[in-house]
Amino acid sequence: MEKQDGTKAIRVKNTKTQYNEHSTPVFLTSSFTFESAEDMRAAFADEVDTTVYSRFVNPNYSELVNKMCALEGTEAGYATATGMAAIFASMVAVVGNGDHIVSCRSVFGASHTMLTEVLPRFGITYTFVDVKATETEWEASIQENTKMIFLETPTNPGVNIVDLEMIGRIGKKHGVLTNVDNCFATPYLQKPTEYGIDVVTHSATKYIDGQGRVMGGLVLGPRDYIKKVETFCRSTGPTISPFNAWTLSKSMETLEVRMERHCDSAKKLATALENHPEIESVKYPYLLSHPQYEIAQKQMSKGGGIVTFELKGGLKRGVTFLDSLKTCSLTANLGDSRTIVSHPASTTHYKLSDKERAEVGITPGLIRISVGLENIIDIISDIEQALNASK
Ligand SMILES: Cc1ncc(COP(=O)(O)O)c(C=O)c1O
Repeated sequence: MEKQDGTKAIRVKNTKTQYNEHSTPVFLTSSFTFESAEDMRAAFADEVDTTVYSRFVNPNYSELVNKMCALEGTEAGYATATGMAAIFASMVAVVGNGDHIVSCRSVFGASHTMLTEVLPRFGITYTFVDVKATETEWEASIQENTKMIFLETPTNPGVNIVDLEMIGRIGKKHGVLTNVDNCFATPYLQKPTEYGIDVVTHSATKYIDGQGRVMGGLVLGPRDYIKKVETFCRSTGPTISPFNAWTLSKSMETLEVRMERHCDSAKKLATALENHPEIESVKYPYLLSHPQYEIAQKQMSKGGGIVTFELKGGLKRGVTFLDSLKTCSLTANLGDSRTIVSHPASTTHYKLSDKERAEVGITPGLIRISVGLENIIDIISDIEQALNASK
C-alpha cells in the first residue's frame, strides 16, 4: 500500500552516511571528490548520476526534491533559492524569444511584473485571462506560439480558485504545458498533477518552511522537462543553498500537522468574521459564500490558511486597524507559525497600477490574514479588539 503524505514527508530521506545518523546532516560543501580522473570525467560528461558541485546538486537538495516529488506525484524536480527563481526557471527553461504565455491575471505581484516587464524584454509575450474566465475564454487566449499556461490557485492575495481540471484539459487539448504555483495549498491540500497539470512550482519560503526562516523554491514536473530546468539553472546559478534545503526538508516533517492546524484555525476565524458588523465581506475557499466554493471542495481537501476581508471604511480604517493589532505581525510573508496581517494594495501589489489592482480584485481596503499556529482564541480576540479600536 502506498504510504500517506504525512508519512512520506517524514520517511522519504537520504541513505545514511557511515555514521548511521537518524536525522540527515547538513552537507555544507561546495564540491564533491572523485576516486580517479576517469570518475571525474564521467561525472562531468553526465554519464553517471552523482554529486559534483553544489550549484548543480547536493544531498540536502536531493532529499528536499525527492520529498516534494513524492508528495506532488511528479517524476523529477529542481530546488531554487527562492520561489521567484523557481517560477522564472520554470518558464525560461522552455519558453523563448517569439513564444507566448497565457497566464491568469490574478497572480502574485512579482509573477505579474515578470510577465509584464521582464519576459517581454526577451521577446516573450503574454495574455492575461480573468480568474473567473470560462473554458471558452481560456481557450480563446491560446495562440499558435503559446508554450505555457500559468496560474496560481488559491490566488494571492484574493484567494480566488481556478478549476485545475479545466486547465489540465485545455493544456492537453492544445498541447500546451500547464504550470501551477501551488504555494497557498501545498501538496498536502491539493495535487495539481491529479488534474493533468504538467508542472508544479512552489515558493517553499511559505508553508514548506512554515516558520518564516529560510527562502526556497521548487519546480516539479516530468523528467525531460526538469532536465531543461536543470540545464538552465546549472548555467545561471539560482540553486538553493544546502542549509536552506536541509531546513526545508526538516520542515516538511511537520507539514501535515501544521496544515491541519492552519486550516482549522483559518476556518474558525473566517466564520467568526463573516458575521462581524464591522466587516463588509470575508473570503475563504471553504466558506459557502466563496464564489468558487464548489471548485474548492473538488480540488482542495481543506480551505488553506489564508483569509481575506474587506473592512467597512476602506483604506483609512484599514490603516488604523493594522496599527491597533497587538499580537498579529505586520510583515510581508505568509505561511508562518505567527499570524500575519497584510495590506496588499500598499505592499505586495504596490507596483501594479490602480487599474491593474482593481482588475485582480485588490481593493484599497482589502486585508489578508495568514493564520498562524497560535491558539485561535487569541488571534480572534486580537482582531476583534483592533476592529473596535479602529471604529
Ligand atoms: C503565490 C506566491 N508565489 C510566489 C511567491 C514568491 O516566492 P519567494 O518570495 O520565495 O520568491 C510568493 C511570495 O509571496 C507567493 O505568495
